[in-house]
Amino acid sequence: MKLFIDSGNIKDIETLVAIGIIDGVTTNPSLLAKEPGNYRDNLKRICQIVKGPVSGEVTATDFAGMIQQGHDIAAIDEYMVVKVPLTRDGIKACKTLSGEGIRVNVTLCFSAAQALLAAKAGATFVSPFVGRLDDVGTTGMDLIREIVDIYENYDFTTEILVASCRHPIHVVEAARSGADIATCPPAVIDQLFNHPLTTIGLEKFLKDWEKTQAVKA
Ligand code: E4P
Repeated sequence: MKLFIDSGNIKDIETLVAIGIIDGVTTNPSLLAKEPGNYRDNLKRICQIVKGPVSGEVTATDFAGMIQQGHDIAAIDEYMVVKVPLTRDGIKACKTLSGEGIRVNVTLCFSAAQALLAAKAGATFVSPFVGRLDDVGTTGMDLIREIVDIYENYDFTTEILVASCRHPIHVVEAARSGADIATCPPAVIDQLFNHPLTTIGLEKFLKDWEKTQAVKA
């Protein structure tokens, strides 16, 4: 399963990419609005750092505006992916942009029916938001399992990008379900590394080793 960073913060992206386990980045207007500087320059820099798919979202809500912004976003860098919302105009824009060879990530997906539409429109990625479903008392991961089933039935090539991941269990469950990608905020990626027994075990190994070295000296 691929791991994407869900952030527009260049420093955080640089730090995590340097570890060598990051495959791409997702952004959204809320994330980019938090960062200083010009959003196009920031997206370009992120592409140069990650050298993998980087999603940048349109803010237009009508078809013509989405197409115009989609072309502008795709022109930023070869790694850019155009993110469109799962609306009627968004699905239409997905079909058009995908037909032109531009990769599209259909975002704000909250149902299996919506995911079916994204696949039919030729989306490269569909982004179901598991955390926001959990927030309203619906098990987000059930949606991921439904989409995996549906896409397998028809050999759709759209990749399932599990979004709105809030904790390591979302990532593990995404991997168990056979989803293609999980996108996580930097803090959640940090949590993936942590286990108290690793910390305690390493401390003990090093202490024991230091004792031996003291005896030898
Ligand atoms: C995905 O592409 C979105 O940017 C993101 O995962 C949304 O997450 P949130 O629900 O934590 O804002």
